[in-house]
Amino acid sequence: MDKTVLITGSNKGIGLATARELGSRGNNVILAARSQQRVHDAADALSREGINADPVELDVTDSTSVSAAVHHVTDTYGKLDVLINNAGIAMSDGSGNTSELTRDTMHRVFETNVYGVLTVTNAFLPLLHKSPGGQIINVSSEAGSLNVAGREDTPLADIQAGAYGTSKAALNMLTIAYAKELRSTPISVNAVSPGFTATDLNGRRGIRTVEEGSQAIVDLAVMENDVPNGTFRCDGRIDFLGDTVTVPW
Ligand SMILES: NC(=O)c1ccc[n+]([C@@H]2O[C@H](COP(=O)([O-])OP(=O)(O)OC[C@H]3O[C@@H](n4cnc5c(N)ncnc54)[C@H](OP(=O)(O)O)[C@@H]3O)[C@@H](O)[C@H]2O)c1
Repeated sequence: MDKTVLITGSNKGIGLATARELGSRGNNVILAARSQQRVHDAADALSREGINADPVELDVTDSTSVSAAVHHVTDTYGKLDVLINNAGIAMSDGSGNTSELTRDTMHRVFETNVYGVLTVTNAFLPLLHKSPGGQIINVSSEAGSLNVAGREDTPLADIQAGAYGTSKAALNMLTIAYAKELRSTPISVNAVSPGFTATDLNGRRGIRTVEEGSQAIVDLAVMENDVPNGTFRCDGRIDFLGDTVTVPW
């Protein structure tokens, strides 16, 4: 079944790669980004590749912008099958030590990575309820996993979570909260980590391509039957987590 899918922060990086793959498979892809110019440029680029995508301005930190996007999707599609909360930022202060982290940085990261997801999800829930099997996919990170943070045998052992990892831990719990609230409905809610992917978020130091990073998101988005609920998934092909697809929160 072709699905109507909205991806926040999809003008570049993992979001754009997810849009490209889902669009190439015939889904109705709504590209959502905070800059009107950047989202139109991204839609034009996909169009040159023969992929249709609907560009929508959506800043996850701006309720007015979110409401306008909801109106557009309501008027154009009447429902939403998959919401991919992909928009995210990473910021730190000083040397990166937690003791140097400012309240302002923490607040800004949470505004996008946590409050933004809450705002967007609550705004689009009525449209997701109109889908026969709505899905919410939160793009998270192993950096937000309390289990991974507590292990000494991973490359993250000496890395402090900082504002970013702390926000993704909160996002993971938000994912569980939605999954519990919605478990008696057709809507499923899951968190997916793309793994360490080369994007602007990390100065392109990631070891995966955006195609590899978006794979687990795409795999979940296209699922029709037996869609899991309340899981934290990672495509483990080249990650330290091994071959599992469901990892500890
Ligand atoms: N790259 C990795 O290794 C990695 C690992 C684990 C998880 N993730 C997660 O993957 C997701 C995508 O990140 P990425 O690596 O693809 O980084 P990216 O290339 O920097 O893309 C981030 C996207 O989020 C958008 N964004 C930021 N603030 C926004 C806002 N207020 N409203 C709407 N959009 C906003 C950016 O838009 P602008 O272009 O306007 O800034 C951009 O489109 C993030 O949630 C990130 O935490 C990434």
